[in-house]
Amino acid sequence: MAAPILEARDLHKAFASGDRQLAVLRGASLRVATGESVSIRGESGAGKSTLLNLLAGLDAPDSGTVHWQGLAARLRPGVSGGARTRALASLRGIIFQSFYLIPEIDALANVRLAGAICGLPRKEAAARARELLARVGLSERTRHLPAQLSGGERQRVAIARALVAAPPLILADEPTGNLDEHTGDAVVELLLNLCRERQTGLVLVTHNPAHAAKCARQLTLHDGLLA
Ligand SMILES: Nc1ncnc2c1ncn2[C@@H]1O[C@H](COP(=O)(O)OP(=O)(O)OP(=O)(O)O)[C@@H](O)[C@H]1O
Ligand SMILES: [Mg+2]
Repeated sequence: MAAPILEARDLHKAFASGDRQLAVLRGASLRVATGESVSIRGESGAGKSTLLNLLAGLDAPDSGTVHWQGLAARLRPGVSGGARTRALASLRGIIFQSFYLIPEIDALANVRLAGAICGLPRKEAAARARELLARVGLSERTRHLPAQLSGGERQRVAIARALVAAPPLILADEPTGNLDEHTGDAVVELLLNLCRERQTGLVLVTHNPAHAAKCARQLTLHDGLLA
């Protein structure tokens, strides 16, 4: 197997639920190799979003480790907080079910800004944003605000945003959950093709068996474990 870009080991995560603890992850482990696509299915409430947030570094596990290849090299010793977040930002792109585009700025600016946050020089961020928006079929929509785009178009902007800094991995949490079936199929096809072209790894959380089957490896989250 190629060197892993992401390795998560024995992740545990519980949430307070009234006066009890709700154990959501109970030792989940995952390795993602360079360019590999992995799907994760599981019942609603199984902990898929919880897991993806840990993999993304948006939340911390109670125990267990998430190791990103190359993260340590980007951090000076003792660096945390904002610098850690910025270093992580260039290692993974995230795509959410509800897009989370910035409503006040147009499609081009949404993608460009993500590039700038990852440290791309201004001109390069703009050039890459235009190129990616063209690649996802939105050359004619670069000046549209998110509210002036359809759901499928918004998600294509979010895909361009996730890819703009050429991260080695994309984490996608039900990216087609708010789209009709036909649009959802097209969005997943586009995402898989872009990742394949760029040798970008993909972790795809989905309820759709057909979308899961398009990934090189299929996993299920059940009882807090991935198998
Ligand atoms: N911040 C939180 N505080 C308390 N409980 C939480 C929190 N976040 C998630 N949970 C609980 O953890 C469980 C797993 O939630 P999670 O969102 O990870 O599920 P999921 O597998 O993504 O579900 P879905 O398919 O519906 O998106 C749920 O029972 C949820 O209520
Ligand atoms: Mg979820």
